[in-house]
Amino acid sequence: MCGIVGYIGRRNGADIVLSGLSALEYRGYDSAGIALLDETGEATLLKQLGRVAGLQKLIDETTLQKTPLAIGHTRWATHGKPSVVNAHPHSNADQTIFVVHNGIIENYVELREWLGKEGYHFASETDTETIPHLIDYYYKKTSNFEEAFVSAIKEIRGAYAILACSTMAPDKLFAARLSSPMVIGVNKDECIVASDPSAILQHTKEVVYVQDNEMAVIEKGSYRLVDLAHDKQVQRETEHLDFDINQANLGDFPHFMLKEIFEAPQTIRLASLGRSNASTGTVKLGGLESVADQLRYIDRIVIVACGTSYYAGLVGEYLLEEITGIPVEVQLASEFKYRNEPFSRSTALLAISQSGETADTIAALQKVQDYGVLRLGIVNAVGSTIARMTDAGVYCHAGPEQAVASTKAFIAQVVVLLLISLKLSKNGDNLYQPLLEEIEALPGKAQQILDQAPAIERIAKKYKKYRDFLFIGRGYSFPCALEGALKLKEVSYIHAEGYAAGEMKHGPLAMIDKDFPTFALATSGPLLEKTCSNIQEIKARGGVVVAVATEGDKLVAKHADDVIYIPKSLEQTEPILEAIVMQLFSYYVATAKDLDVDRPRNLAKSVTVE
Ligand code: AGP
Repeated sequence: MCGIVGYIGRRNGADIVLSGLSALEYRGYDSAGIALLDETGEATLLKQLGRVAGLQKLIDETTLQKTPLAIGHTRWATHGKPSVVNAHPHSNADQTIFVVHNGIIENYVELREWLGKEGYHFASETDTETIPHLIDYYYKKTSNFEEAFVSAIKEIRGAYAILACSTMAPDKLFAARLSSPMVIGVNKDECIVASDPSAILQHTKEVVYVQDNEMAVIEKGSYRLVDLAHDKQVQRETEHLDFDINQANLGDFPHFMLKEIFEAPQTIRLASLGRSNASTGTVKLGGLESVADQLRYIDRIVIVACGTSYYAGLVGEYLLEEITGIPVEVQLASEFKYRNEPFSRSTALLAISQSGETADTIAALQKVQDYGVLRLGIVNAVGSTIARMTDAGVYCHAGPEQAVASTKAFIAQVVVLLLISLKLSKNGDNLYQPLLEEIEALPGKAQQILDQAPAIERIAKKYKKYRDFLFIGRGYSFPCALEGALKLKEVSYIHAEGYAAGEMKHGPLAMIDKDFPTFALATSGPLLEKTCSNIQEIKARGGVVVAVATEGDKLVAKHADDVIYIPKSLEQTEPILEAIVMQLFSYYVATAKDLDVDRPRNLAKSVTVE
């Protein structure tokens, strides 16, 4: 949820940490701070509310020259409101120890009480501030910073990625990790440490991931890993991350969200590249080959996810059940982990996550780790925690998704769910070949929708003043309507809810009037007539309707106020095309309201706390 960056080396740490933090602002950005050690080992602590860019001004106001060691943090508040005093780094009273932290310390209340009795005072409301005081407490007993750091870490319960530095050890950085990502980039005579590789890759692609229950002592161009559970040193070579930092750049788009929506054709291609082939009628998913035997005995699939990934999972439920005949249940990860439910060994758990770091989804995987069940993943972030926790999985290959609102990841997730369905379909289902052919046609159809962006923008602008919106659909379009509602609400702050169109008479129709518009997914398929009836019911009550219809359809336009057409597709793949329309619609409503569409208020890109 927060962004952490540290530097130790021959260059100016302040510059490298600030640029790294800017790359991580998608993880949270309500406040930021940096601790700097100059060449004499003298420390400076700077913190502020708001975006990372403000830190540069604070640094410019100091007389600091070169700072070979620095740690920085961009925050999404979990404990304590966004404020300067709650911003990281946190320090001990005499400002000789500095700590940045991503995660949650579950036993921070008892630690604060105990430290309070030992004479420590707390300036902030945060759980994090217990860490520098803990280190200080042990340093006073051992006069050895590394020992003090280890002792402090062993007192902590919860989830954390911790980075510390101290004037008592000005030639080292100290990192520790449990359930929250931490990666070290290694260069000649320097190291960059961060909670996400995107802060490192402009400097080096040679990285090593700190694993759970490990501590790292990092020096200029070298690192030492210690397994804290067994108090022994760990040997782990760096790996080469084949990740193009340019992908993460904005290009000539005004916002990452629009850039990522316009990547839809490429996203569909990359998600299916080398995996599906209509001419040979084959589907190859290398990530599942190691569990091919176990997959044969799966008689139930439980999908767990959050937010957009959850709605992709709901589309996946329809796909998997229709194409494979395997019963599927989709659960919100935040609910799954607390449920007591029967879970047989022939049930597979399928976690879907763009970031691969969502705490609720991680907790769901942790819950079943002793069940002896197959744990699968559909993840976008390579090497992420969820990707490493599962027995097997399929990467989305959508590239970095920077906008908080997930767009291309949803498209990729649904494509991957379709591929898995085809892979698991036993009897060469009559949908098999048509779907393989449709996958190859989808990028072109997605492009046709993107080409309508100016028309969709004109329609969207008409709806920016509304305060409520209903999204309705039937069949495969029902879960897609739920996702459309999430997209609109999270970037435009308009109250939007998704509903099965067939449910209108069971309540939602009561809300409808001229001030409560409806977005209706009325694409071609066996349920079109019924959805058109819903549109007529809404119109009869003075409601306003924006509809998505299939090119060539004449019926919908008779009833809806605005119609956006998508190319004809199969019922099973229409959600992919409908989603692109709703993503564009939501984006243009939000930009018409002059909102920060890439960084919506109160949200963060990766929710790494429960
Ligand atoms: C989607 O637009 C939201 N940003 C959010 O709901 C997101 O989908 C959810 O937090 C799950 O994230 P994940 O896919 O990285 O696990």
